[in-house]
Amino acid sequence: MRLVTLSAPDDFDAWRDAARGLLADSVPAEDVVWQVGAEAGDLFAAVATPRADPVGPAFKVPRAFLDLARNAILHRDPERFALLYTLLARLRRETGLIEDHADPLVRRLEGLAKHVRRDIHKMRAFLRFREVIDDGTSRYVAWFEPDHHIVRANAAFFVNRFASMHWSILTPEVSLHWDGAALSEGPGAQKSDAPEGDPIEEVWKTYYASIFNPARVKVSAMLKEMPRKYWKNMPETALVPQLLASAQARESGMIAKARDEARTDLGGNSQIAWEALREEAMGCTRCHLYKPATQTVFGQGPVSASIMFVGEQPGDQEDLAGQPFVGPAGQVFDRALGEAGIDRGETYVTNAVKHFKFEPRGRRRIHAKPDAGEIEACRWWIDQEQMLVRPKVTVALGATAARSLFGKVMTIGRERGRALKLPDDGGEAWITVHPSYLLRLPDEAARVSEFARFVEDLKLAKAAAA
Ligand code: URA
Repeated sequence: MRLVTLSAPDDFDAWRDAARGLLADSVPAEDVVWQVGAEAGDLFAAVATPRADPVGPAFKVPRAFLDLARNAILHRDPERFALLYTLLARLRRETGLIEDHADPLVRRLEGLAKHVRRDIHKMRAFLRFREVIDDGTSRYVAWFEPDHHIVRANAAFFVNRFASMHWSILTPEVSLHWDGAALSEGPGAQKSDAPEGDPIEEVWKTYYASIFNPARVKVSAMLKEMPRKYWKNMPETALVPQLLASAQARESGMIAKARDEARTDLGGNSQIAWEALREEAMGCTRCHLYKPATQTVFGQGPVSASIMFVGEQPGDQEDLAGQPFVGPAGQVFDRALGEAGIDRGETYVTNAVKHFKFEPRGRRRIHAKPDAGEIEACRWWIDQEQMLVRPKVTVALGATAARSLFGKVMTIGRERGRALKLPDDGGEAWITVHPSYLLRLPDEAARVSEFARFVEDLKLAKAAAA
């Protein structure tokens, strides 16, 4: 038996060094006991000495494994160290195993990594600072209860985002303190150590007011999106009664005006608001599709874009890359954009549904069409993207996108080639086919003529957005 003691539950570097040494000595996974700090371990185990020398030139640890391990190791599951070492040992023999998403061990570790990523995003989206005056200077203190060991992994994010503030983040396991120049760590704390009330992030309230759509208020859905345990810490929840009270007036013709005012109030902050929205979407559990998917694939592109393209849902490659339209349909789309003279980098590209829906078939994941409930659940995000980007023209690529944008079934053949009005004063929309339709056409002549028609539709949208 070998005993490995890591100094902290999130100590990836120590785990990696120990795993390298164990692998170099060909120690089987079942002969290793992993423990953290002074936890009780196997008293009869020999202590493993991490070896600095690598496993050997023949075995190059795949980057995808390291990315997976860095996240999975932050999970609370006590078996994570052993599971990762088992996978690492198997990878030495089974090249390509890391790509096998149907393998039970790969799947289990991907599941752990996914929970961790979601927790990281929740901390970014739901943590709220409160101001305290300390010796005449302002300090901002936040309380947060993560599900996993993610606090240190999130430190750089908060340092970057709130670089000029002096702040402390208190959590049950560890506390972080930033004095504007250096980050330090302290012991865990209790909720009562953090101040209550008067959160300072006015921008959040303004942001929330700007995206609030009274026509779509579903308190239960809002509660689901912001898990209840975070609600009490969030300033925008205090706004809800007031927003509901004014909903009637805003619904009767004032919605667009209210949103415009809120966007003006946000000033240069719509990029920040979009980033916050994206962070929240990363933890989305509004429908069941998040469970098997790798990650949320959110929209991409400048918030100042005048054209927004909406596809159906991410495919296999998009799910892995975390970006829309990067797989085969994305290649057709890029070629058509090029022929229509549209620079994709100046457009906002997103999907009606933000998680990949698929059916596993052996090692492959076969695309499955999202149903009406899934499209409806995801409208929450597309509505908010619409409100922040406010594109001059929105292009629905295919029937799912059109259904999501219009809230009802639209027939492509009938609506194609003309400007339409989106509900709730959402601006002008055009409907065209989905690029993957072009890939599915059986004969070459049809593919050429339909592609040309698609390019013509894109040119119409471009002219309308000019
Ligand atoms: N199909 C879509 O609708 N969206 C993507 O992002 C990829 C394929």
